[in-house]
Amino acid sequence: MPITVRDIRAFKERKERFAMLTCYDALSARLLDEAGIPLLLVGDTLAMVVLGHDSTLPVTVDEMLHHTRAVRRGAKDAFVVGDMPFMSYQGSLEEGIHNAGRFLKEAGANCVKLEGGGRVLELVSRLTDAGIPVMGHLGLTPQSVHQFGGYRVQGRADEQAHQIVKDAKSLEAAGAFAIVLEAIPSDVGEEVTNSLEIPTIGIGAGPHCDGQVLVFHDFLGITPGKLPRFVKRYANLGDEIRAAAGAYATEVAEGVYPGPEHSY
Ligand code: KIV
Repeated sequence: MPITVRDIRAFKERKERFAMLTCYDALSARLLDEAGIPLLLVGDTLAMVVLGHDSTLPVTVDEMLHHTRAVRRGAKDAFVVGDMPFMSYQGSLEEGIHNAGRFLKEAGANCVKLEGGGRVLELVSRLTDAGIPVMGHLGLTPQSVHQFGGYRVQGRADEQAHQIVKDAKSLEAAGAFAIVLEAIPSDVGEEVTNSLEIPTIGIGAGPHCDGQVLVFHDFLGITPGKLPRFVKRYANLGDEIRAAAGAYATEVAEGVYPGPEHSY
């Protein structure tokens, strides 16, 4: 059965922890859906892990829609979250509403996600009124990386932590149905989670959040180099892909592949 916002609310009511993963293409969506992952986020991390940019800022609405459509085609039951990219909603309310609508209308997303607190409240409320479910995103919001001066844990100072709790409550009041909390201390993640009726989904926000989210290429061990402390690699596909590509190249060079069983 397709997952709905009601199911996501019910996870919290039943104190049932749930997983979300990012996803960017149809076959991966199919695998994750078959594995029972209830939420797939077509994140703007697309810019970095798929398109090779060094931040999330350059990805466009059209690129996000292209990948959201692919994930929608591959996901049977999973709830597909379309991530609104940088400057697709910051300029004006009208632009934000228009672009959010495109995620549902043209790409089959079930909701949109957008970053920030006070400055997006009116938009969240207008989208909710228009029937577009909204997932918030607080803490380290990567679209503001230049304002933060790097990818830094947020909410360590009391004042910042209070602001995050306040923003979370305001997002809930404006109609958000869930909130991603990124890179904040566990006790702040716990306080936000306990202050809300709607679920929190943590990434580097500790064990008390109602759900957790990881980036596809990170959790599968494809992303090279040092990863943030909160990432757990559940596989080492980077090594496997390199080994498989090397074996293929060797067999082609040696005339082993294709063999008779691969030939007509
Ligand atoms: O774009 C993304 O992948 C995200 C997750 C890191 C939460 O926003």
